[in-house]
Amino acid sequence: MNQSSMKSIKIGIVGLGRLGKRYAENLKFNIRNAKLVAACSLQKEELEYAQNELGITHLFSDYGEMLKLPGLDAIFIVSSTDMHARQITEALKAGLHVFSEKPLAIRTTDCLEVEKVAGQYPNQLAVVGFVRRFDPSYRYAKDKVDAGAIGVPYLVRSQTVDKDTVADWQIQYVGKSGGIFHDFNVHDIDLARWFLNSDVSEVWSIGGAYKYPAFGDAGDADNVMSTCRFKNGTMAVINASRTAMHGHDTYTEVVGTLGTLRIGRPAAKNRVEIYDINGVRKECVETFWDRFEEAFLLMARDFIDCINNNRKPELEISDATQATIVAEAFTKSFKERSLIKINS
Ligand SMILES: NC(=O)c1ccc[n+]([C@@H]2O[C@H](COP(=O)([O-])OP(=O)(O)OC[C@H]3O[C@@H](n4cnc5c(N)ncnc54)[C@H](O)[C@@H]3O)[C@@H](O)[C@H]2O)c1
Repeated sequence: MNQSSMKSIKIGIVGLGRLGKRYAENLKFNIRNAKLVAACSLQKEELEYAQNELGITHLFSDYGEMLKLPGLDAIFIVSSTDMHARQITEALKAGLHVFSEKPLAIRTTDCLEVEKVAGQYPNQLAVVGFVRRFDPSYRYAKDKVDAGAIGVPYLVRSQTVDKDTVADWQIQYVGKSGGIFHDFNVHDIDLARWFLNSDVSEVWSIGGAYKYPAFGDAGDADNVMSTCRFKNGTMAVINASRTAMHGHDTYTEVVGTLGTLRIGRPAAKNRVEIYDINGVRKECVETFWDRFEEAFLLMARDFIDCINNNRKPELEISDATQATIVAEAFTKSFKERSLIKINS
């Protein structure tokens, strides 16, 4: 189908917080054939933003009410993690396609419940977005690996490292996000599965609240490290940090029998080198958005394109379940100080 003959997909969005606003702006201004018609948030000021900045007139504080709006085709879920599973299920039952931000859920049991419901609606899309798969450099690396450019891949080293902007709300947010393994490392888990073409069978996770003891008091950590064995015998080493001083330093390395690919390293802001009293350096990317802005746009476009062309997305709901299974195992290993075997 050519672009002009495609249907305009009418969308409702839930969650207009730090990331939801970015999605809403992409859907409103940057994606052909997407029509953002409704928004839902618990925050009055976020709904005012949707009305004043985006011109949306169908505004809701009750998600169930938004789902009843006549004419909707799809829902974008960018609410807090603890809401995703329930909101996906409700949207599917309302007859809508659903895109949700990661992770699918904090608990595996909730993921399996969503999978069950999604199975009952095979003609509706249920997609959980792992944005790094849509980053052009990651995509390029995946194609190279699949073409055998580095031989047989046997090790993935991957990290999600945030610039230290720790504030009280982040510590309070642990309960809603599931903690650092669910919030940060689900991305790395998904990438490791993608590059190594296998599922995780065994994990060992360690870490601590080295800089901000309040994370420890909340049952979480500010820096963690995990080792994984995969069913096909390959390995991954995955770490996360909330405390980097230099910027958002997220990268992945894939090691194979004939070579290595490094994606996103160094996390340079641009191609400028600074020569000054501190020596020679490149400045670092500041935030996840600075690093993955293009990928977020490509990911949302792909979802709209899948609906319009009746195409299945590469990411299946079971990929999201696997990421949660492993994040849950990381958390258990970290808390119980033991090696965890995964039997799924
Ligand atoms: N892919 C990435 O790199 C990335 C980066 C940041 C955040 N995220 C994900 O995006 C999601 C949102 O993160 P955020 O930082 O924007 O959170 P946030 O706290 O800033 O925003 C959450 C929004 O959800 C709304 N909300 C929560 N419960 C609701 C309910 N029951 N009904 C209606 N609205 C509800 C809130 O009103 C708010 O608008 C999280 O799940 C997070 O994991 C992903």
